Amino acid sequence: MDSDFSVSKLPSHVGIIMDGNGRWANLRGKPRSFGHKIGSKNVETIARHAFSRGIKTLTLFAFSSENWLRPKDEVEELMRLLERYMNKFRSSAVENKMRIVVSGDRSPLSDSLIRAIEKTEKATESFRDRTLILAVNYGGRQEIVYAVNKLISEGKPVTESSVSEYLYTAPFGEPDLIIRTGGEIRISNFLLYQGAYSELLFTDVLWPDFNETEFDKALINYSGRNRRFGKVE
Ligand code: IPE
Ligand code: IPE
Ligand code: MG
Repeated sequence: MDSDFSVSKLPSHVGIIMDGNGRWANLRGKPRSFGHKIGSKNVETIARHAFSRGIKTLTLFAFSSENWLRPKDEVEELMRLLERYMNKFRSSAVENKMRIVVSGDRSPLSDSLIRAIEKTEKATESFRDRTLILAVNYGGRQEIVYAVNKLISEGKPVTESSVSEYLYTAPFGEPDLIIRTGGEIRISNFLLYQGAYSELLFTDVLWPDFNETEFDKALINYSGRNRRFGKVE
């Protein structure tokens, strides 16, 4: 990694839609599950790199609320990988002072996966400078509905700011930049509320090939953007 990397402005919070594992594997004549395995290994590489560049929060879309519609075998493999990830990277997350938080509806997940998530969240909860949020069984619409229902049940007014305060990962704020790998130009139900003013970057690079250099390219691209938030400069 080059130490003289510098950009004029850095996003504080980056979201990534990690897409393209299946195609990456198929291009190599391998089953989709192989792409998921290699893709899951890339999570730690990119997280460590992003934090080394000064990113404070990284939100990675790992499994959407719509991904249950995939074949049973593929869903099971993804759940296995998530559990393995949660257990395997716990100690290196602690070593690297990385907080891990899972966002999404975890109620349909297996007991052992929920336990693994809770253990990793607990082991890393004191770290404040670097947060990796993994969106698992996450859907932007589901999250908004959850927030609004919670407000109503507590008898609180539904306003733009109260809804944002009731989103799953409210304290971690909104992503400045959302990257989607894999060539599709869509959001696929990721961070719908928080992404209202995020800068979007779509790359054809498939997730298992999305390396440190590709991440740096995204940071350079972001540094040249002019965010206006509706105003005139
Ligand atoms: C992203 O890769 C991982 C998940 C959605 C879980 P895909 O599995 O969607 O790979 P492609 O898009 O079919 O290549
Ligand atoms: C989005 O990818 C979800 C994740 C990366 C976890 P998908 O592959 O599920 O999205 P679509 O189906 O192409 O929109
Ligand atoms: Mg996909």
